[in-house]
Amino acid sequence: MKNGITPVDPATFFPNRFLGKTLFVTGAAHGSIGGATAERAAKEGARVFCVDRKPEALRKTVNEITAIGGTAIGHLADISDPHAAQGAVDACVQQFGGLHLVLNAAGVMDGNDPALPPDFENTTHLLPAPLHAATDAYWHNVMNANINGMFFCMRAQLRQMMAQETGGAIVNIGSIAGLTGLPGNPAYSASKHAVTGLTRNAAIDYAAHGIRINSVNMAQTDTPMVFRAMEFVKWAMEKGMGSGMASFKSASLLAAHEPDKRGATPWEQAAIILFLLSPDASNITGACLATDGGWTAF
Ligand SMILES: NC(=O)c1ccc[n+]([C@@H]2O[C@H](COP(=O)([O-])OP(=O)(O)OC[C@H]3O[C@@H](n4cnc5c(N)ncnc54)[C@H](O)[C@@H]3O)[C@@H](O)[C@H]2O)c1
Repeated sequence: MKNGITPVDPATFFPNRFLGKTLFVTGAAHGSIGGATAERAAKEGARVFCVDRKPEALRKTVNEITAIGGTAIGHLADISDPHAAQGAVDACVQQFGGLHLVLNAAGVMDGNDPALPPDFENTTHLLPAPLHAATDAYWHNVMNANINGMFFCMRAQLRQMMAQETGGAIVNIGSIAGLTGLPGNPAYSASKHAVTGLTRNAAIDYAAHGIRINSVNMAQTDTPMVFRAMEFVKWAMEKGMGSGMASFKSASLLAAHEPDKRGATPWEQAAIILFLLSPDASNITGACLATDGGWTAF
């Protein structure tokens, strides 16, 4: 590929596509996939309820939206706490009168609080490790954020959508690690396979209520999570530990052929997520889409 594929322009949006709709987003901090989706959805007319654990980065997403005349509310919560997940949905309903669309994007790659700066040296018990060396704390923290939190959120979201009787659409974020194994990070891979299962299960159970439920499953997408993962791999290599992660396959088909070997951008993921949430995807449910630049094609 001589010049590479031009990524989705961050300025692209379809005016009024989501006018009158409320979108609930977990993992909506600035720079993240959830943040990019929230920002574009707001440009397209949605009221956006943004949930995250990172106060400053959450505020930044909300400020970006309100600065251009969009409507957004930031809500600080740890969705791995069932009361906090229910509380976030209740707050959205209270402030926006309901919810129609959802992106469940909150997730972590290791067992640390994502709001804290990485400190690998002093948190080795929370870091990814092959199964025989993995700690309970690492396992529980990753499972709590990635799948238990998604369950708590979806339960509250679905109850609200059912009560409204307006149908709806939900997109969950899985990963290539939800479609294939990922070396060195058993809890991440197990939790993301659980996202695939939960998505398919819920698609079946809620089709009768007019609620479509799909997942997107990406390879490297350039967000704070990836920068943190790269730092971790580098640190582990320097320690002579080898992280396991990125040891076999480190680039998607498209990234491998790009002149600058770029990963996906959050805006590329947001474009697909918003398509799935839009009326154009009216016949899609239960799909676990590989939005991975061809990673899982071979
Ligand atoms: N970036 C990638 O390459 C990549 C690849 C595959 C899958 N994913 C998935 O995409 C999703 C979004 O990740 P991202 O790449 O935007 O990373 P990110 O770290 O920028 O965003 C994830 C956000 O979720 C928030 N979060 C995590 N746990 C939370 C909790 N318990 N309660 C509330 N908020 C919480 C974090 O604070 C963070 O802002 C994640 O589920 C991730 O696993 C990302």
